[in-house]
Amino acid sequence: MMKTLHSIILLYVLVFFGFNVSPTVSDCFYPIGAQIQISYSPGFTVFYQSTYKIVNNTRTNEVYILYCGASAPAPNVTGVSSAKYFQVPVKNVATLDTPTVTFLELMNVYSSIKYVNNTASITSPCLQKNKENNSIQNFNSSDITNVDVVFSNPTQTNSDNKTVTVNISDDLSPLQKLEWIKFFSLFYDKEADATKTFKSLQNIYLCNTQNLVNISIANKKTIAWVSYDSNSNQYQVKSDKYHSQLIKDAGAYSTELSASTVNINELHSIINNAYLVIDESQSIASFDAWQRTFGYYPGQSDCCCSS
Ligand SMILES: *[C@@H]1O[C@H](CO)[C@@H](O)[C@H](O)[C@H]1NC(C)=O
Ligand SMILES: *[C@@H]1O[C@H](CO)[C@@H](O)[C@H](O)[C@H]1NC(C)=O
Ligand SMILES: *[C@@H]1O[C@H](CO)[C@@H](O)[C@H](O)[C@H]1NC(C)=O
Ligand SMILES: *[C@@H]1O[C@H](CO)[C@@H](O)[C@H](O)[C@H]1NC(C)=O
Ligand SMILES: *[C@@H]1O[C@H](CO)[C@@H](O)[C@H](O)[C@H]1NC(C)=O
Ligand SMILES: *[C@@H]1O[C@H](CO)[C@@H](O)[C@H](O)[C@H]1NC(C)=O
Ligand SMILES: *[C@@H]1O[C@H](CO)[C@@H](O)[C@H](O)[C@H]1NC(C)=O
Ligand SMILES: *[C@@H]1O[C@H](CO)[C@@H](O)[C@H](O)[C@H]1NC(C)=O
Repeated sequence: MMKTLHSIILLYVLVFFGFNVSPTVSDCFYPIGAQIQISYSPGFTVFYQSTYKIVNNTRTNEVYILYCGASAPAPNVTGVSSAKYFQVPVKNVATLDTPTVTFLELMNVYSSIKYVNNTASITSPCLQKNKENNSIQNFNSSDITNVDVVFSNPTQTNSDNKTVTVNISDDLSPLQKLEWIKFFSLFYDKEADATKTFKSLQNIYLCNTQNLVNISIANKKTIAWVSYDSNSNQYQVKSDKYHSQLIKDAGAYSTELSASTVNINELHSIINNAYLVIDESQSIASFDAWQRTFGYYPGQSDCCCSS
């Protein structure tokens, strides 16, 4: 008898309270803000359903199911067996991929960053404060339980179900790269903000491009965009889509190239023809060091640079 009574009470509790805690679709209906539109084929697609979004990261062949609402159960989406499921908006994230930090800053959601790959490389003033009071720390794989998502890149892949591998490389044009702000916005339900930020930066970019498009050929300058890799001891002259498009849109010419990786003699023949040299080497901290590394230090003879 006692047992039956317990069962009845349990059933009552389940029926009357169990139903109350189930999610209401209205809390969870996409678009919550707005749906994103993509114009420059950046390498991801999104397909909106009423309570979730299917995101296809075609640059790394990952599929994510982003489902909404604090109490909504994960949907059972068929046909995408290897998809990773994330409840959104995400609250605590690890950004091992450094450029991702900038996208999150542009959407003003950088406070969600709890871990980075290396706090010593943080330059942003906003993040610096969160680093000083230890709200941002170096990521260690055991910290994965403390975050909703880990934004990583192809240099550090993980097969766990929380890692999102972003692959924003220089084969994308500047505006294609900017489109990725919309990708990150999907994880925060911040599509409307991302669209606004994208449009505003795109307008500035296109306005400048338009202003520079009629520079006369006689006034166009040549730019050499270079870098030095201290690990491989190699010089690179950037000729990828990102750098060449940026130079072209700035009303300038890229240096003529036969190869992107060059020895110091080839490098000099290229640099000597350039009006402006932009160096993006990470390991060079001063102009003195730059001159030495690139074989332009006064008195340094050409004969010895190629050794
Ligand atoms: C994701 O995109 C790739 C490449 O376009 C395609 O082969 C694949 O079927 C897509 N997956 C889903 C789940 O849409
Ligand atoms: C990253 O994208 C490039 C260009 O599409 C591709 O060649 C490379 O395989 C991608 N890396 C990964 C890990 O998917
Ligand atoms: C998801 O749906 C498929 C097909 O309807 C079914 O076979 C599978 O058991 C379901 N998975 C879960 C976790 O409910
Ligand atoms: C994290 O730092 C290590 C060591 O510098 C580096 O090898 C790795 O590529 C970095 N990871 C990411 C995702 O950038
Ligand atoms: C750390 O500092 C930032 C910026 O001042 C602040 O927003 C954040 O709440 C602080 N975090 C902690 C744990 O004190
Ligand atoms: C990661 O954290 C665990 C537990 O705190 C610690 O034992 C381990 O040494 C850490 N690993 C690294 C690489 O810092
Ligand atoms: C994700 O991986 C963890 C650890 O392997 C596991 O406990 C959890 O059930 C997985 N979650 C999903 C949604 O597959
Ligand atoms: C550039 O030149 C074209 C053709 O001469 C002209 O129609 C256009 O208005 C010019 N653009 C600017 C920004 O001056």
